[in-house]
Amino acid sequence: MSPCGLLLLLLLLGRVTTAPSVTECGPDEYEAEGLHLCCKLCPAGSYVSEHCTVNHSKGQCRECEPGTFTAHPTGMTSCLPCAQCREDQEVVTNCSRVSDRQCQCQQGSFYCDSPDCAEKCFRCTRCQGSVLQPCSATRDTVCAVETNQEPDERLIPFLQGNGNSSEPFIAVAVAVAVAVVVVVVLFIIVIIVVYQKKGVQIRRRVVGCLKGESEEPGSPEYEQTYFLKDTSCNTTSQTYYIFGQEVTPSKWNMFMTLIGLEGNEIERCRYENQGNLIEGHHKMLITWRNKLGREASIFKFMAALHQMRLRTCLENIINKLIAENILAKHAETPN
Ligand SMILES: *[C@@H]1O[C@H](CO)[C@@H](O)[C@H](O)[C@H]1NC(C)=O
Ligand SMILES: *[C@@H]1O[C@H](CO)[C@@H](O)[C@H](O)[C@H]1NC(C)=O
Repeated sequence: MSPCGLLLLLLLLGRVTTAPSVTECGPDEYEAEGLHLCCKLCPAGSYVSEHCTVNHSKGQCRECEPGTFTAHPTGMTSCLPCAQCREDQEVVTNCSRVSDRQCQCQQGSFYCDSPDCAEKCFRCTRCQGSVLQPCSATRDTVCAVETNQEPDERLIPFLQGNGNSSEPFIAVAVAVAVAVVVVVVLFIIVIIVVYQKKGVQIRRRVVGCLKGESEEPGSPEYEQTYFLKDTSCNTTSQTYYIFGQEVTPSKWNMFMTLIGLEGNEIERCRYENQGNLIEGHHKMLITWRNKLGREASIFKFMAALHQMRLRTCLENIINKLIAENILAKHAETPN
């Protein structure tokens, strides 16, 4: 586990002491449903076939059937089914009792380079001309920039045939063309700079209207209002901790769904941490962060809470983040 993950884990585990809990089981134990007993976890690759009958003892474990697995020591009463690779995918690692099947997009035909293709691979681009880099499972084909040769060929006899007499003409034509291009580019840049802010506002309003949202000043644009002062490992953990504290368990699933975790990922984290809410939530955040990589941002959290209309909760979080010196407001800009 990375130092970041460990810190996060420690912080979240720290909450166990404050969270109300009926039966407090050890880290290598699980709480047997309805029995208020702490039983020892079964090892990875197996499942609990019978709960223990004496507190803190070990029940019966049985090996996972073929096609199922448990990746961690577990209190589950069955193993998880191995993932099936889709038609546009191929197997990278076969399923074993202790690890799930790993799939990737079919090399050469499909690729996936963003979270957008989590459910379906993209088809590789076919180059018209030459291929600079073939399509891989995680990257599209890179084609050579197309050089259209026909105009060049037509120019050659013209350039050669007319000799010296056309040279001044060509020089002037080239100069004029360059000047026009420069002016147009400058004009476009000025337009973009001047209208960018207005454009964003207009777009926001249009999108807001389409979604049927009432207009609220600056509501979804947290990323424009606030910025992260410190993105170090330490504050990431603190941030996750604050969100974990403020979002109530009943809203958690919806929250995870909105930030982009899939239902089965949420289920899996819950299954693998039965009886330990905090640990389950922690796994979800880790899964989410691993899935999104650099896309993982607390602004996604904010957008999700906004969408869930949890204004008070969100305000509390923002205030806490500001108080912790993690978040700050951009200097006021006139609207
Ligand atoms: C088993 O142990 C745990 C923690 O030590 C305790 O909370 C629980 O009440 C115990 N269960 C029974 C049935 O004694
Ligand atoms: C997975 O198992 C099948 C059959 O057991 C085998 O043919 C295949 O090569 C294995 N694939 C990998 C990636 O190990």
